[in-house]
Amino acid sequence: MPRDEIPMSRSYAVQENIVLPGDTNMHNTMFGGLLMKHIDETAAISARRHCRCPVVTASNDGVHFHRPIQNDDIVRLESFVCSAGRTSMEVFIKISTEHSNTGAIELAAISYLTFVALGSNGKPTEVPLPVPKTDEENLVYRDRETRKEMRLKKRSETNSLIKSLTSSQT
Ligand SMILES: CC(C)(COP(=O)(O)OP(=O)(O)OC[C@H]1O[C@@H](n2cnc3c(N)ncnc32)[C@H](O)[C@@H]1OP(=O)(O)O)[C@@H](O)C(=O)NCCC(=O)NCCS
Repeated sequence: MPRDEIPMSRSYAVQENIVLPGDTNMHNTMFGGLLMKHIDETAAISARRHCRCPVVTASNDGVHFHRPIQNDDIVRLESFVCSAGRTSMEVFIKISTEHSNTGAIELAAISYLTFVALGSNGKPTEVPLPVPKTDEENLVYRDRETRKEMRLKKRSETNSLIKSLTSSQT
């Protein structure tokens, strides 16, 4: 049976926060760990909107911090599902800052995360295919196979390392 196809825009999610003194480190810039939390939350909303079932984070390709996020900046996180396998969904997320006084907007970081949809039995379940429409969606969609290859390689390396670590403990 052919898979359902849905526009990427259906999974758009946005989160905005202002950086407060309690959110910053000794450099007066935002804690990376706090940003990672917001990234996971926003991306999970996109994944859930796309498949409309429970999801778990399978992996995060890493956050590329392009510039620091300062105290009092307004942080905007925007995400959407940019490709899908059978049960997994790749989410692209873009983080930008808005200077609270001047309104100047700059791109601060990007990341890709992978979520897996779970069926009522708690096992991975099939998801619809996302379809790109805008220039940005097409740009991100274009290199999906290269990213998938790198991710599968990383997964295999991680599984081997976990196996070795486990056997060296017994
Ligand atoms: C993610 C998880 C559900 C995968 O389960 P699994 O039994 O390994 O399932 P499979 O091997 O059939 O993989 C299912 C899909 O996940 C993908 N996947 C699994 N691990 C992955 C990883 N580390 N990175 C990217 N994709 C991954 C597979 O490629 C497959 O995709 P596809 O169906 O689109 O081809 C399981 O490892 C898990 O529950 N991990 C813990 C998740 C968690 O606790 N997250 C943090 C809190 S939400």
